[in-house]
Amino acid sequence: MKKILLIDDDINLGKVIAHQLQKNGYVVVAANTGKEGLEKFHHQEFDIALVDIQMPDISGIKVLKEIRQTNRQMVVIIITAYGSIENSIEACRLGADDYLTKPFGQEQLLFTIEKVLKVRNLQQENTQLRHELVGKYQFDNLIAESSKMEDVLKMAGQVASSDATVLILGESGTGKELLAKAIHYNSPRKNKPLITVNCPSIPDNLMESELFGHLKGAFTGAIKNRKGKFELADGGTIFLDEIGDLGENVQAKLLRVLQEQEIERLGDSKTLKIDVRVIAATNKNLQVMIQEGKFREDLYYRLSVVPIKIPPLRERQEEIPYLVDFFINRYAEGRKFKVFPEFIDALQKHDFPGNIRELENILRRAIVLAENNQITLASLPSNFKQNTSISTESLVSDSEKNYSLEEVEKHTIMGALERTGGNRSKAAKLLKVPRHVLLYRLKKFGLE
Ligand SMILES: Nc1ncnc2c1ncn2[C@@H]1O[C@H](COP(=O)(O)OP(=O)(O)OP(=O)(O)O)[C@@H](O)[C@H]1O
Ligand SMILES: [Mg+2]
Repeated sequence: MKKILLIDDDINLGKVIAHQLQKNGYVVVAANTGKEGLEKFHHQEFDIALVDIQMPDISGIKVLKEIRQTNRQMVVIIITAYGSIENSIEACRLGADDYLTKPFGQEQLLFTIEKVLKVRNLQQENTQLRHELVGKYQFDNLIAESSKMEDVLKMAGQVASSDATVLILGESGTGKELLAKAIHYNSPRKNKPLITVNCPSIPDNLMESELFGHLKGAFTGAIKNRKGKFELADGGTIFLDEIGDLGENVQAKLLRVLQEQEIERLGDSKTLKIDVRVIAATNKNLQVMIQEGKFREDLYYRLSVVPIKIPPLRERQEEIPYLVDFFINRYAEGRKFKVFPEFIDALQKHDFPGNIRELENILRRAIVLAENNQITLASLPSNFKQNTSISTESLVSDSEKNYSLEEVEKHTIMGALERTGGNRSKAAKLLKVPRHVLLYRLKKFGLE
């Protein structure tokens, strides 16, 4: 039940309003002066305050100001006299949620209160979601158990609080995007947007409009005005992922934007000041690209104010056990798994061309296929060691468990499919069986 503080010097009107509200399930506490109202406000908890703007002792505006000094959450609705629109505007500027103009009926009173409560609810949900997001990318959710990764995080932590442009370098799957998010959500811009642009996914000729926006008619197909990613990121951060794939034309435009801190929408002669922090990432060797004339050197220097290189997983194998734990927790859905040491050993001998993403996929698969919640050598993809037969051997030679023929078959099939990127015809060839035999097995084992 919502509790309302009603502050109005007009005793009769106060009585009417209180009656209407109580009839509709609200609890009402009334005060006849601003002073009395504030006293009640300081001593009790309320969800809503209804405050008359014109009172002899303390004006409603002053009451509103004092409420807002200590309480941003409570809904405040101002009651104004007919025709005093300036007052209402001033009240909203000072933090009133809405206003009611006298005279008003019961309908309008209830409607206004409900509307404002709804908006407030949405705002709260929003902050809640944001908090969850922020929690998700705190640095402590990013595993860093090697001295190399500790250096990376230290650097990231230091730049997070600044507006410096960061260039994240690293092989595919090393966690570049995760680090970019961590930097944003640990920066003063964390409550403003983080906008990601995946450079290779956007064709060259559309990139400029994607980044900087366009006016209607700027080019064929520009049917209405559109904001670019830089404008959408205003106040926040833009993450330019795979920057090495940016076309040469757009490289020049981007350089100008970074230098001038302003953008021009396509087809528009006006410039717009923007306040955007830039984080870029790539798995390419930009220095080589510069020598080959494929990446502008001046843009490189603009972007790499703070370069951070994430080392490949094979250079920090000591982190594998921690990462295994981390991903099992993430994907186990409450199940408890026993991880056998030989599983970790095998992982530590692997060179992980796909880095952490590869490890993550291996664990997801291991969890799905695990029998009796055990993660063993048999949980590894059969193509894990180049030779398929090796892992089949290790399957049957593992004396700790009784492997059924069916299990071995299942693993071999999964391995073949992984090797061929899911292509069933090729997998069938690899397994030396006709395609329909493979399809039949897939169906039988529920692996479709
Ligand atoms: N240090 C880490 N701790 C926990 N999870 C990580 C870590 N690094 C990466 N990951 C996870 O590994 C996966 C790949 O990371 P991410 O997408 O950030 O890599 P990337 O370098 O951007 O890859 P790509 O080059 O393929 O785009 C994600 O699921 C990410 O959450
Ligand atoms: Mg990425």
